[in-house]
Order: sequence, then C-alpha cells, then structure tokens
Amino acid sequence: MASIVIRNLDKKTIQNPNLSKPLLWIFLENGLDWMHACGGKGRCTTCKAVILKGEENLIPKSAAEIRYESQNQLGPTERLCCQTKLTGGEVEIEVPEASKLPHIRYSA
Ligand code: FES
Repeated sequence: MASIVIRNLDKKTIQNPNLSKPLLWIFLENGLDWMHACGGKGRCTTCKAVILKGEENLIPKSAAEIRYESQNQLGPTERLCCQTKLTGGEVEIEVPEASKLPHIRYSA
C-alpha cells in the first residue's frame, strides 16, 4: 500500500495517495498547508522536503531539481514536492527549517 508519512507533522500519514499527482497537490488536497511560493511550477525551492526513507519510491529528479541541486539550493536528500511523485510503497519525509510556515506547529 502506498503512503506518505510526514515525520515532523506528528507523523501525519496519507494512505493511498493519487500516484499521478505531485506530492504538493496531494498535501493540499488533504488539507495540509505547504509552502509553494511559485505555485508549483518548479521555479522556487520553498516546497522542498527532506526525504528520510523511501527515496527509491519516488520518480527520478526533474530538470529543475537537478539544476537547483547543482546550485546548492537543494540538498542531496531534498526534493521539490511540486516536482516529485510517489511510484508506490512508502516515503517518509520532513519539512526542513527553511520551508516551515509560521502558523503551523511542527513536531520533533
Ligand atoms: S512550489 Fe516553487 S518549486 Fe515547488
């Protein structure tokens, strides 16, 4: 069964997400407020997440992700949630400091 676990949002788990949609849209459809300054177009890095487990269950990095990684704006364990999709299985992520929204209480 496919699932997305967000560790520092009290391990919020989204079961059976729509695998045809990028993670960002799955979060928004599930009522999660997630930073996305460029509107999900791959033109900023505010939607990034740190991948803690299950990187192999994500699609390959997009051209935008590779470009930001080469510019050191995206770390090797980070992905842009507007660019990446789950292929199946589980992925566990967390919101990095730079992408935390001020009105949300994040857990450890
Ligand atoms: S929302 Fe801007 S890159 Fe994802």
